[in-house]
Amino acid sequence: MIIKLPETESTNKYLNKLTKNQELKNKTIVITDIQTNGKGQHNNYWESEPYKNLTFSIFYKNINLDVNKQFYISIAVSLGITDFLKKININPKIKWPNDIYVNNKKICGILIENNIFKTTIKSTIIGIGLNVNQTKFTELTKNATSIKLITNKNYELNKLFNSLINNIDNNISTLIKKDFISLKSNYLNNMYLINKTHTFKIKNTKLIAKIKGIEDTGQLIVVDKNNNINKYFLKEIIF
Ligand code: BTN
Repeated sequence: MIIKLPETESTNKYLNKLTKNQELKNKTIVITDIQTNGKGQHNNYWESEPYKNLTFSIFYKNINLDVNKQFYISIAVSLGITDFLKKININPKIKWPNDIYVNNKKICGILIENNIFKTTIKSTIIGIGLNVNQTKFTELTKNATSIKLITNKNYELNKLFNSLINNIDNNISTLIKKDFISLKSNYLNNMYLINKTHTFKIKNTKLIAKIKGIEDTGQLIVVDKNNNINKYFLKEIIF
């Protein structure tokens, strides 16, 4: 079921409320043209100019995934987005943990909100903000890009939406089949800065290191010039 709202504060928030008030079908989607108070990761605001971009959220139930494997939801969604972008001739990279980058700029953000019971993820709300036809971003979002900024073309949002949903859904099916090996190997193949020397910040110190991979828990594995291997959770390492 697709619920199209002319305007809403946040599609994640709207869908979350719906799940509390009624039994929703698997893959219920809420999409809007105007999102007035979009939620980003770490309580950030997600900027999106009305009518220009895709801002929507999908509800998946019966995910039944062990909490220790929750990062695989991010993996599947990130791959759905990169698969889709490649089909329109864009060359995306996944910036760990789950930002989609093109040419060192962010084109898409993902906000995943899981519903956990004991040690199992029962259902999840996946919010996606994909910059499509927007060409100007505010000071706060200066590291952003869009499909139009890359290709110089305008896109019909509906067409892109259908294809994007199919690509996400294919990867979620792989997740439901528990094919973790292929998900992880695809993720590593599409990862931003993998195997490249880069300066990171850990607490307040600089670390020159290379990304080597990820743990099932989502930790980032990096190796420094002395071949020391370190693993970091989100927020412990800054790019
Ligand atoms: C990020 O910070 O990178 C995540 C951004 C997620 C934005 C999308 S837009 C649709 C959905 N509804 C929200 O309020 N946020 C997500």
